[in-house]
Amino acid sequence: MDPTGLTSAEKITLFSAWGLIRKDLDVHGRNVLLLLFHKHPHYISYFDFTDDPAAQSLVDNKSLYNQAIHVFKAFGSLIEYGFKDPVLFDETLKKITRRHKDRKVYSEDILTIGDVLLNYLAQALGRQVSDSLPDAFWKLFRTIAGRFPAAPKPSDGEAEEQQGNANDPSPTTSNQDAT
Ligand code: HEM
Repeated sequence: MDPTGLTSAEKITLFSAWGLIRKDLDVHGRNVLLLLFHKHPHYISYFDFTDDPAAQSLVDNKSLYNQAIHVFKAFGSLIEYGFKDPVLFDETLKKITRRHKDRKVYSEDILTIGDVLLNYLAQALGRQVSDSLPDAFWKLFRTIAGRFPAAPKPSDGEAEEQQGNANDPSPTTSNQDAT
């Protein structure tokens, strides 16, 4: 079975929407990450953006910019290359999942970023977005999320840790507003 879980028509829908984004992938990627941090500030502490100590805020932090490019390129390669080659799709997803292994990123977090991204696409692409995009988009995000672990329940004793920082206890820009 095709590991994307998508029909050919859904793949075309996603491929077309992605085609509009990929032209300015860096700018869109950074906007989405900034939006994620604006809507869900606790995610800032997951990251270490201290590679750019000169940055005055997240908006001009080049380390965040670089990270956004990597994230969007990885996501884009699922669509651009993975849709044509199911084995490659699976490999790319394995690699993405492995990169998050010790970072306390759970399926729920993937759906959260999915929500931010879909809203962003609707705003950025406006009427260029096809009516079939949301359904296809959520199918893809559920497939990605399904490869991540479920968040531990508070009863597992990790509730407090979930909010904590998986990488760096004191990122220089974590107290800045993301907008
Ligand atoms: C479709 C969704 C996602 C994709 C495609 C993705 C992709 C990636 C990639 C490619 C990297 C490695 C970047 C590098 O080597 O510089 C990365 C790192 C990371 N991702 Fe994600 N990611 C996704 C969702 C998330 C979510 C929801 C979170 C949680 C807020 C998250 C947190 C992180 C963290 C903390 C790192 C490590 C950053 C560092 O090295 O400082 N990711 N991600």
